[in-house]
This record gives sequence, structure tokens and C-alpha cells, in this order.
Amino acid sequence: MQIFLDTANIDQIKEAARLGVISGVTTNPSLVSKEGKADYEAVVKEICSIIPGPISVEVLVEKAKAMIEQAQKIAAWAPNVVVKIPATADGLEATSALAKKKIRVNFTLCFSLNQALLGAQAGAAYVSPFVGRLDDAGHDGMEVVRDIVDVFEYYEFDTQVIAASIRHPQHCLAAALAGAHIATVPYKVLTQMIQHPLTDIGVARFLGDWQRLSGQ
Ligand code: E4P
Repeated sequence: MQIFLDTANIDQIKEAARLGVISGVTTNPSLVSKEGKADYEAVVKEICSIIPGPISVEVLVEKAKAMIEQAQKIAAWAPNVVVKIPATADGLEATSALAKKKIRVNFTLCFSLNQALLGAQAGAAYVSPFVGRLDDAGHDGMEVVRDIVDVFEYYEFDTQVIAASIRHPQHCLAAALAGAHIATVPYKVLTQMIQHPLTDIGVARFLGDWQRLSGQ
């Protein structure tokens, strides 16, 4: 399972890039607005220059025709841009049209297997089931991920599954066990994934034993 970073924060992206484990980035309008930078294009271009992998960038309009027009402009900002299109009927129409033009789409705000199935049929490169938001609504978000992965594998779809709306490390390991191709994680969760108290205790003990021997 690949790890994408779910943020529009440049410092976090640079930090994560240094760790060498990030294959892509997902952003959304809320994440970009959190950074307080109104120049969408400039923010996206900077992210695309830091991480060479797929960078998901969401359209800011709702109707199919407007989405298609805006998605083509966004896709031209950098070769690694993937356009995020919401899982609505308009989004489906836009996804089909964009896929025909060879523009990669991340079919986002997916909350059901049916939405994911339609996204795949429309030619989306990725579908993004939102695990945390489903959990918040009293559903089992990871069960939706598992179902999508199983069905896509059974029918040998090329569309990749991004476990999104990840809230904690447990979500990451469950996404990996479910067979998600990608988990997109906030920076905080990425840092939590590497932490284990026994590793810290082990490092301290190894160094302490060595220092005692060497008299330092
Ligand atoms: C994914 O592409 C979305 O940007 C993201 O995972 C949404 O997460 P949230 O539900 O924590 O806002």
C-alpha cells in the first residue's frame, strides 16, 4: 500500500518528502483554505514541484460542464496533477468526459460501493472512500473500503482505491489489511505511524549499554 499525504501545507509536504515514504499528495478546498493562500494555482504548482507523484486537486464548481472546463485547466498546471471530482451525477458525467481526454480523475467524496463502481466504470484512475467521515456517521468506513477492493479485484478493474479521511494509525493498518492501494494520511498520522514506545526504550537501552562499555 502506498502512502499519500493529505494536506496542502508546504512545510509538512517537505518534511514528509525527506522521510522518503510519500508517493503522492491529496488536497481539497478545505485543506487549501486552511493555509490561507488564495492563489490555488501557485499552491498546487509548488506541491507538484516537491512531490513527483500524483497530486490530487479538487474542482471548485458543481455542474458537469463547468467541472470539465475547470478540470482541464487544473490538469494543465503540472503533469502530475490528478483532478478530484465529487461522486455526484454531474461528477460522473465529468469523470467520463475527462477520462476520454486522458485526464486522470480521483473520484472523491465516495461513501458507498455503488458510487465507487460507477466511478470506475466512468474511467476514474482512483476512487476515494472517506473512512473517517463514514465512521463519524455511525457506519463502518473500512468495511466500505474492503468491499470496494474486493469487487474491483474480482472484476479486475484498473481503478485504484485510496482510503481517505484517515484519522489515526489504526485506520492505516486496517486500510493495508483491507488491500487498499493507497492510504492518504494527515501529517500527524504519518508521524504517529513510525512511533512505538518499545523502539524508543530499545534505542535508549542500546545506546546506554554502549556508552557504559566505552566509558562515554
Ligand atoms: C481525501 O482526499 C480528503 O482530502 C481527506 O481525506 C478528507 O479527510 P477529512 O474527512 O478528515 O476531512
